Amino acid sequence: MTILGIESTCDETSVGIVKSGTKVLANVVASSSVMHKKYGGIVPEVAAREQVRVIVPVLQEALRVGGCTWRGIDAIAVAYGPGLIGSLLIGVETAKALALAWDKPLIGVNHLVGHLYANWIKTGDERQGIRRIQFPAIGLVVSGGHTDLIMLKSHKEFKWLGGTLDDAAGEVFDKVARVVGLTYPGGPEIEKAAGSLKSQRANLKFPVPMTASNDLNFSFSGLKTSVVNYIASNEKFNVPTVAYAFQNSVIKSLVKKTFAAVAKYKVKSVVVGGGVAANEKLRAEMQVAGEDRQVEIYFPQRTYSIDNGAMIAAAAYFQKSFVNFSKLQADPSLYFV
Ligand code: KG4
Ligand code: ZN
Repeated sequence: MTILGIESTCDETSVGIVKSGTKVLANVVASSSVMHKKYGGIVPEVAAREQVRVIVPVLQEALRVGGCTWRGIDAIAVAYGPGLIGSLLIGVETAKALALAWDKPLIGVNHLVGHLYANWIKTGDERQGIRRIQFPAIGLVVSGGHTDLIMLKSHKEFKWLGGTLDDAAGEVFDKVARVVGLTYPGGPEIEKAAGSLKSQRANLKFPVPMTASNDLNFSFSGLKTSVVNYIASNEKFNVPTVAYAFQNSVIKSLVKKTFAAVAKYKVKSVVVGGGVAANEKLRAEMQVAGEDRQVEIYFPQRTYSIDNGAMIAAAAYFQKSFVNFSKLQADPSLYFV
């Protein structure tokens, strides 16, 4: 089964074509992130206008790269939430129009679930072989808008275990980047600055959030305040040192809570997804913790960590949540239920 997946929840416009939920035939991504740089964050109207402009060319390019015509597509999938309403509408209405015009079934996908299913995409790396993610698994979604721990019991049964009480992990990377003078999106900039630190033994440390809480929740706004206060009282602060200390605190918090969930539910697999999953330090720390506890840790390839259409098509294949095209509505507040 070959599925065409559309992703337009935030500032990316992407169409992926995926066979059997694992083999990517095409994954074309257009991002408007450079247009938001000068504002230090996404301007929804700017993002949506750009998406209107690029959605059809992106679709045509995906079909060209995938070497298929509409006849070779078996179903259309779309991320219908959560996200920015103007952006979501463009993907959802395009998907509905294609389903009607091409007479194909339509599959609605939760964007956050899509991030986790990026892990089912084959890496093409022979050493890793075919990924065999075992259920039950713990899912960690770390994106610009969300930080959630999920129990994946099967392809059809998910349970929300905890999430952030305030800022999302990606959001706090973006905000801290802005206060230290780095550009949007802040995650890659902070990672680069932290990696450029000459001595990795810098003395600066920020508190690791929520270490004493017994739940599976996160909180990042206190950490953000610590960084802001540090900068306010240290005029000549060093960006790599701050970036390094900040990144460490976020990662320690993510690793601690993920493995608290692993221990509580005695699972053997962890799947991580979302833009922050592109962070190499997070990948390395999760792998170390996984090896210590003999738990398999899965991260998508970096290309499939950030928003993309292929992950939507992959999730659609395994979830097969078909909807009548007249019933599908963009849902900005969609969450795990
Ligand atoms: O999943 P995503 O592409 O979009 C949303 O669904 O929100 O995530 C975007 C977020 C941004 O906050 C960005 O700063 C963060 O992911 N991000 C990173 C890295 N690459 C992207 N955060 C930390 N390290 C990175 N390398
Ligand atoms: Zn996302």
